[in-house]
Amino acid sequence: MSRDPRDVPQLVRRARAAAAEHGFTLSCTDEVGRLLRTLAGALAGAVDAVAAESGTGTGVGAAWILAGLGSRGRLVTVEHDPERAQVAAGIFTEGPRVTVLEGDWTRLRERGPYALLCCGGGGKRAGREQAIELLVTLEQRL
Ligand SMILES: C[S@@+](CC[C@H](N)C(=O)[O-])C[C@H]1O[C@@H](n2cnc3c(N)ncnc32)[C@H](O)[C@@H]1O
Repeated sequence: MSRDPRDVPQLVRRARAAAAEHGFTLSCTDEVGRLLRTLAGALAGAVDAVAAESGTGTGVGAAWILAGLGSRGRLVTVEHDPERAQVAAGIFTEGPRVTVLEGDWTRLRERGPYALLCCGGGGKRAGREQAIELLVTLEQRL
């Protein structure tokens, strides 16, 4: 399927360029990115909606999530590779909407609970139960 290249947000382009510059090849594809944006879009408009991501890479997936969150949402993302964490932090310099943490994905506990959790690195297999505990429950939202 051909896509309009203008459908790729500016921050995604910047994060992709940073990935290329640093030889990082595991960024999410645009197809996955659009899915992340759609999922985050379900939170758009919710007051205090906070999303989380494990495994930031250079910030490609995070940039897609941010594009879906809308102007009031926030994102916390964590990367255990110090260089990549620093690169990603340099992508999201405008405003406090994105927090890039350096360290193991379990650092997400410091900021939760979250309405959306995207596991790109950590929390997918071992630790799945811990990951689920980071999510906002229906009772917490009511
Ligand atoms: C597939 S890449 C993620 C790509 C990124 N989410 C994106 O969409 O562009 C996986 C990333 O997870 C990081 N990672 C792996 N295990 C981790 C862990 N336990 N805690 C934090 N980050 C981790 C890796 O260093 C790598 O940068």
